[in-house]
Amino acid sequence: AGRCVVAVDGPSGSGKSTVSRRLAAGLGARYLDTGAMYRALTWAVLRSGVDLTDAGSVAKVAGEVDLRIGTDPQGYAVTADGVHVEKEIRGPEVTGAVSAVAAVPAVRELLVARQRQLIEAAGRIVVEGRDIGSVVAPDADLKVYLTASETARAQRRSAEDAADVAATAADLARRDKLDSTRKVNPLQQAPDAVVLDTTELGIDEVVARLRELLTERG
Ligand code: C5P
Repeated sequence: AGRCVVAVDGPSGSGKSTVSRRLAAGLGARYLDTGAMYRALTWAVLRSGVDLTDAGSVAKVAGEVDLRIGTDPQGYAVTADGVHVEKEIRGPEVTGAVSAVAAVPAVRELLVARQRQLIEAAGRIVVEGRDIGSVVAPDADLKVYLTASETARAQRRSAEDAADVAATAADLARRDKLDSTRKVNPLQQAPDAVVLDTTELGIDEVVARLRELLTERG
């Protein structure tokens, strides 16, 4: 099988991670969670103690941290300076700070370049994020934009995190706003992306639909 890059973008709670991981496993492809990269970098920034609103200092930490991420769809490892941060990057501190860190242009430049290298090395890969179809892999074989109603997204996320639905809804709304209004590479639908509303769809249905689309495209 030759090169095949699938770009999956969309807001938090749209089902991106579960769908992307399953699709990759089914295709025998690699999987890249770009959100985990922004989260791991945010963990390093928080640990360094620099002021989050100071873009220069944030960029400096980003340039110095040794960030590594695996691309195995069965379970990937993320390390920052050799420390495993898989658990920490899902916690409230990182979730609260990640959109601010991800808005720093130098951070995006660095991570986008890293993501392109990982995609190139993998050849066959499903990549999920916010700007994959629009910026990271504009030549992807298939671009998908997943959406779901705000209520459905908040319910999914709060079930995953065992958190309160109202608090989760507020956090999602806050991050969506930051992610879609930032100046550099905001969350956006690539003009050639297939839009799938997953509010009423199960994960298996979404994955099956994406496999159909891939087959149609040869
Ligand atoms: O996908 P996830 O919710 O883990 O992403 C965490 C945050 O990382 C997003 O809210 C966004 O601020 C940032 N992000 C981004 N670009 C990507 C992936 C994630 O800015 N490609």
